Amino acid sequence: MSKTLAIIKPDAVEKNAAGAIIEKIQSAGFKILGLRMLKIDRSQAGVFYEVHKERPFYNDLCDYMSGGKIIPIALEKDNAVDDFRKVIGNTDPEQAEVGTIRKLFGTSKAVNAIHGSDSDENAAKEIVFFFNASELV
Ligand code: CMP
Repeated sequence: MSKTLAIIKPDAVEKNAAGAIIEKIQSAGFKILGLRMLKIDRSQAGVFYEVHKERPFYNDLCDYMSGGKIIPIALEKDNAVDDFRKVIGNTDPEQAEVGTIRKLFGTSKAVNAIHGSDSDENAAKEIVFFFNASELV
């Protein structure tokens, strides 16, 4: 079993899509280990997305992720990182496969409804950003 971090992003929370997204995640065989709803401030968003700090979209990304409530979800499944990336689809909703979460609920490459960790190493870092280990057992 391995873990990944999902974040239902502000656009999807705002459009009341969280329930439908969680249903898709569970139907795909992921176990929810932890789930919260919160608003992060801009500096927290900056730390979370530090790996992207040299990218041209970094400032807009931090504004967007701190602009409304988000729902981080710690997930468990075998091959969790790769399997979850298949469930969410391409970063750009227009390029995402039919039936994926980003195809269904995303708006643009920047405003794309959901985050998924891109490696086991980043999943571990991202999960501790939002959850205490003791909450997940
Ligand atoms: P996420 O999976 O949260 O990881 C980094 C985020 O940066 C990504 O989803 C998008 O929301 C955003 N992003 C990635 N590439 C671009 C881009 N080319 N233009 C704007 N935003 C982007």
